Amino acid sequence: MSSHRRYATVMQAVLITEQEVSVSETDRPIHSDTELLVKVASAGLNGADLLQVKGNYPPPPGYRHDIPGLELAGVVVEAGAGATRFKVGDRVMGIVGGAAQAEYAIIEDAVAMRVPDEVDITTAGGFPEVFTTSYDALILQAGLTLGERVCVHGAAGGVGLAAIQLAVAAGAEVIATTRNTEHRDDIAGLGATVITPEEFANSGDYDVILELVGAPNMSQNLNQLRIGGRIVVIGVGAGARFEIDLRLMMAKRSRILASTLRARSVAEKATITKAMESHVVPLLREGRLQIHEHASFPLTQAPEAYNSFARGGKLGKVILFNA
Ligand SMILES: NC(=O)c1ccc[n+]([C@@H]2O[C@H](COP(=O)([O-])OP(=O)(O)OC[C@H]3O[C@@H](n4cnc5c(N)ncnc54)[C@H](OP(=O)(O)O)[C@@H]3O)[C@@H](O)[C@H]2O)c1
Repeated sequence: MSSHRRYATVMQAVLITEQEVSVSETDRPIHSDTELLVKVASAGLNGADLLQVKGNYPPPPGYRHDIPGLELAGVVVEAGAGATRFKVGDRVMGIVGGAAQAEYAIIEDAVAMRVPDEVDITTAGGFPEVFTTSYDALILQAGLTLGERVCVHGAAGGVGLAAIQLAVAAGAEVIATTRNTEHRDDIAGLGATVITPEEFANSGDYDVILELVGAPNMSQNLNQLRIGGRIVVIGVGAGARFEIDLRLMMAKRSRILASTLRARSVAEKATITKAMESHVVPLLREGRLQIHEHASFPLTQAPEAYNSFARGGKLGKVILFNA
């Protein structure tokens, strides 16, 4: 028997074949009792999608391997009998284990969030992954609080811009590193002091450092931490291994935290979703958080969207939308 869900009528979707993406017709997913079938309005691209295309980051069990996409926004067209939070016609967004980059996708009712009326649903699909990741890393894991000093490395990307906005909203002093000088003014406009990766070495002390680039920054991160400081590792695109001086960690009573979102259970994702609905979505509704769109492409132009993401030099998200 096939390891993925059963499918009924057809739809357009981004399909992975031989480590390339194309857009073709495929079967539409069928929801379970606790799931919603969503007509996707928008779906953000993430680094994990590019890894999945190259065969390096398979989705959790139950999700098709050949359709990428970790996040979506859209309108509920069918709801399982056990779906208690949302109904047909509701505008929802959220993180999914995979297969979001399609005309139709499945999301657990417990993991969906309402798209505020004030928010454009064709960009809302760029919100869930980066804001949930940043909120979980900075607030839930590192415990960032009012008046603390935080550094965001790799600040121009989707997670970086989300993290800066959340840290500013939390009352922290935010320093952001970017190697791309043309983005400095836009990042500073969010309330961060922008420095180059080279300037970081003399920029401490920090209570929290959000590491979105990877291992090459870690030794200097430990040097720049304040006593009791925390480093949260979320991205390791530039490398995953480094040598650590445990004496420095002991002396500073520092902590290194790290996590991924995708592999978590539905129950764990539902817990974060509730916290997001209480603390983060209201800020989006009030216009205090923005979804920064570097570029958007219709689903049919998914290969161009993937090229745009892979080129680098982005400021924010690359988003696919269904016209
Ligand atoms: N753990 C999780 O659950 C989770 C969730 C979401 C994302 N992530 C990971 O977190 C990272 C950030 O995600 P994202 O969506 O913000 O990605 P993104 O939009 O691609 O942004 C990455 C940023 O890091 C910069 N960067 C990359 N390599 C660098 C290097 N060697 N030195 C300096 N800057 C560098 C990029 O600059 P350029 O544009 O100049 O290359 C870009 O601004 C990615 O690695 C992603 O896979 C993890």
